[in-house]
Amino acid sequence: MTDLGFPIIGNSKLTKPLKNSSDKGLLLALTAIKIYGFPNIDDNILYINHSEPLKFESIINRELKFYNKKLKKQEEEIENLSLPSNLNAVKEHDPNYDIPVSYITMKKIFYGHTFSISRDTLIPRPSTEVLVDAAIETIKDFSLSKQKQFSVLDLGTGSGCVLISIILNCADKVKSGMGIDLSEPALKIAKENSVSLDVASKTKFMCMDFTKMHLSDQFLGLGSFDIIVCNPPYISTNDYANLNISTSFEPSMAICAGNDKYKCYEEIRNSLDQALTTKEHNGIVNENTVLIFEVGKNMEKGVIKIFESWKYLKSWNDSQESVRCVAFVKNKSNYTQ
Ligand SMILES: C[S@@+](CC[C@H](N)C(=O)[O-])C[C@H]1O[C@@H](n2cnc3c(N)ncnc32)[C@H](O)[C@@H]1O
Repeated sequence: MTDLGFPIIGNSKLTKPLKNSSDKGLLLALTAIKIYGFPNIDDNILYINHSEPLKFESIINRELKFYNKKLKKQEEEIENLSLPSNLNAVKEHDPNYDIPVSYITMKKIFYGHTFSISRDTLIPRPSTEVLVDAAIETIKDFSLSKQKQFSVLDLGTGSGCVLISIILNCADKVKSGMGIDLSEPALKIAKENSVSLDVASKTKFMCMDFTKMHLSDQFLGLGSFDIIVCNPPYISTNDYANLNISTSFEPSMAICAGNDKYKCYEEIRNSLDQALTTKEHNGIVNENTVLIFEVGKNMEKGVIKIFESWKYLKSWNDSQESVRCVAFVKNKSNYTQ
């Protein structure tokens, strides 16, 4: 079984511990043994049978409940997208094993708007809507908002869903937004979304490495941004291997951070710190720029440590009450609510 790629779950040294939700789907029990060569038995075979352990019933029922929930969510998503009838085939789609349905519809609803996506973009997650909430709240509530209009920079913009949603929801407060990504095909989708959602006049998308922003001359003359949002890749190579099958259809560059899940946060901090001290650069960041990051489960403390040279401002929770976003600023005095 292990050779075939099926992990055997248990608590001996030959098994692996139950670690994540994909492991939960595997149930293994020895229910029958045949032993050959018994002279006093009719067919020379001794059968030992055991019924399936009772505890499996509750696990199977629980998995079935999750599966039906997934199916229902998928059906709702398809209905909300009002797809052409030739895409009805997606209704037979198995959300546990097949390519994610969003890569068939090429659309995903995020923050109430329909975004185009492709196999080059991450499928926007409902949990990332917290990042949009955080940016909107920062723009609306903090005292700086009384002074002026905001410029927003989105690092690793993908489909552009975060940046575009912020602009759509703060149209009178956001004067401009820029999205950067290393993936040219993803940027093409982001641009298309900015046109279809009617914010193209306020947005600019550029191909750039967010670990080397301080070296780029594409920021020259643009001034510094008021808000920087970022949902970076934050899954380590090890954890990536254990993710659900559906995630394997998405670009690994959008999900996998490398051996260290904190790598992108560190590299972005280095680049922003260097930009801050490079005066001729005229910015990217200044003392009042608010950085808001999405973080993975239980990563809040680690990210706050990485941003020790900044001041921690605030955290936002997701619907599971896990910290999903953290914000930092250099000069906190403007941000007393
Ligand atoms: C987790 S996805 C976020 C996409 C989108 N912002 C969202 O929330 O749905 C991370 C994005 O960062 C981009 N990315 C990864 N490494 C990058 C780098 N070094 N510089 C710029 N973008 C990068 C990926 O291409 C991907 O689009």
